Amino acid sequence: MSEICNIALLGQKLMGRAHSNAYRNVERFFNVPLKPVMHTIVGQDLIALAPFADRWGWKRYSTSWKEVVKDPAIHLVDVSTPNYMHAEQALAALAAGKHVACEKPLAATLKDARSMKNAAARARKHRTFVWFNYRRCPAVALAHQLVADGRLGRIYHLRACYLQSGGDPETPLLWRFQKKYAGSGAHADLNSHIIDMARFITGQEIVEVGGALAETFVSERPLPGAAAHPARTGSRSRKKSVGKVDVDDCVLFLARFNGGAVGSFEATRLATGHQNNNMIELNGEHGALRFSFEDMNLLWFFDKHEDARTAGWRRIMCTSAGNHPYAGAWWPDAHLLGYEHTFVNMVADMMAVLAGDEPTVPIPNFADAYETQRVLEAALLAAKHRAAVRLSEVK
Ligand SMILES: NC(=O)c1ccc[n+]([C@@H]2O[C@H](COP(=O)([O-])OP(=O)(O)OC[C@H]3O[C@@H](n4cnc5c(N)ncnc54)[C@H](O)[C@@H]3O)[C@@H](O)[C@H]2O)c1
Repeated sequence: MSEICNIALLGQKLMGRAHSNAYRNVERFFNVPLKPVMHTIVGQDLIALAPFADRWGWKRYSTSWKEVVKDPAIHLVDVSTPNYMHAEQALAALAAGKHVACEKPLAATLKDARSMKNAAARARKHRTFVWFNYRRCPAVALAHQLVADGRLGRIYHLRACYLQSGGDPETPLLWRFQKKYAGSGAHADLNSHIIDMARFITGQEIVEVGGALAETFVSERPLPGAAAHPARTGSRSRKKSVGKVDVDDCVLFLARFNGGAVGSFEATRLATGHQNNNMIELNGEHGALRFSFEDMNLLWFFDKHEDARTAGWRRIMCTSAGNHPYAGAWWPDAHLLGYEHTFVNMVADMMAVLAGDEPTVPIPNFADAYETQRVLEAALLAAKHRAAVRLSEVK
């Protein structure tokens, strides 16, 4: 590969902005061995594409992803479209000989995820990445390192929640609320992140989902662009202005890990009072760890072997260059990082891997994200059948 990496980014909205910002800024903060070049941005909205390309610095724009993924100039295709598009676009990109970075969850269905994992295994020379960006919060990366160093010893408990409140009844029927586009609701969207975080921090795999509950509290939603308050209109116009929701608003499940830990997971879009509380706590034989994304620069650590007179939860500000992952690329101590830095950190690691170097902490590829997708599927089956599901039954 040349010293540059020409990127084609599919999707120009929320993740389109987050990824564009990362490609644009990574080499200003990291000494990347490969220069990401913002070659082509792809979206569906032609009117919005030209100003988007101009604002973020994309050289070209297109509405035809099928043509773009075959462009010989492109080295890496970044799939940041709704979940149901991931498999078709990633498979086409791999078939065209490109590296692929795909947003999470890997796919809308386990079947699609499996075909992506298999295609990635066949395309040996081409690397795959999945944007589980929370691994690249310095505090989460530090938690992974502390567990690997044995600071918790045997892990007994893990509890993870991803609590949002953006799913109130007024929220329109976006693709996220439709099974054919999203696969599932809060589960695919949010549990995927905390399952990945749990696997990453513990280094353990989930072997059984002991039971699960899925609930849809808001069963119909206004169609995008329809009246904001459908319940207040007449029954005929109401029928036309609302659509049925066929995904969960929340999924809760219990899990066993192959290292002996037990865990609980909860993802919801109706946790009134929480906006983006992606949190995880681990309790082990030597200590405990706690993280919440709403205070993402902090990791809380409890060392059980400290003098009992002064023992307590230690608040670690994870911004110390040379001591905390990624911190050296950024600002002086306690000059805080935010959401967008996790994506920049991820691009730095992707460029390192493509150049044959090691990432700062392990980076998920399609095979890795497939394991998370199997857990998502096991929890859906457990909820549907009101029964425990062994992961060995979910292939
Ligand atoms: N890592 C994270 O923190 C995070 C956060 C939000 C979303 N996501 C994931 O990112 C993906 C995209 O989510 P989003 O919030 O950016 O969605 P979005 O609705 O904001 O944007 C989707 C984009 O995809 C484009 N698109 C849709 N179908 C297309 C097609 N057939 N061809 C080309 N472009 C097409 C749309 O034009 C739009 O630009 C999802 O998989 C989602 O789960 C990840």
